[in-house]
Amino acid sequence: MTDMLVKLYDLENDWSFSAEQEKLGITIRKPIGPEKHLIVDWVKRKFLLDAWASETNMAFSNRPITCFVAIKNKKLIGFACYDATALGFFGPTGVVKAQRGKGTGKALLLACLLDMKLKGYGYAIIGWVGPAEFFQNAVGAVEIPDSTPGIWKGWLHRNI
Ligand SMILES: CC(C)(COP(=O)(O)OP(=O)(O)OC[C@H]1O[C@@H](n2cnc3c(N)ncnc32)[C@H](O)[C@@H]1OP(=O)(O)O)[C@@H](O)C(=O)NCCC(=O)NCCS
Repeated sequence: MTDMLVKLYDLENDWSFSAEQEKLGITIRKPIGPEKHLIVDWVKRKFLLDAWASETNMAFSNRPITCFVAIKNKKLIGFACYDATALGFFGPTGVVKAQRGKGTGKALLLACLLDMKLKGYGYAIIGWVGPAEFFQNAVGAVEIPDSTPGIWKGWLHRNI
């Protein structure tokens, strides 16, 4: 699982994905403090990863919060974080299976990356990439050579 690099300075400041998602009844927004426990718990239940829940918790510790969520019919359907694994890193992210393929994953990715760009970052690192093709096609991400295991080398997790 490699890391990938995104040129934020090449990303257009175009938030039209938000209106496109609204047309499908999906709201992309930043969560607020009182929603933290619900979102962290939801990430843990839906994606079965303690580490992702931990990273989402970290995103809520940042000011402003470095997380976006996707909501449909008052229910969470997706999330994305940055500055959660390490500074300058995008992730974790996920959309529930039943709601995939509607542009929501890309919208959450763009919301985070544009937020990073506005904050002053020049590049974003997609950490420990799963679907490389998704990131390649969505935002022109390129693989970082020799980035496995990268910052995860020797990390503590449940099996240790
Ligand atoms: C990756 C993920 C967030 C994508 O969410 P999604 O809402 O289905 O994605 P979108 O509908 O926005 O897809 C945008 C584009 O990427 C493509 N795409 C989506 N998932 C893809 C994948 N796994 N591999 C390659 N391309 C993918 C879509 O076909 C679409 O292409 P198009 O613009 O040509 O139509 C979702 O599949 C997911 O939650 N996966 C499990 C968690 C995960 O792997 N997270 C990333 C960890 S690094």
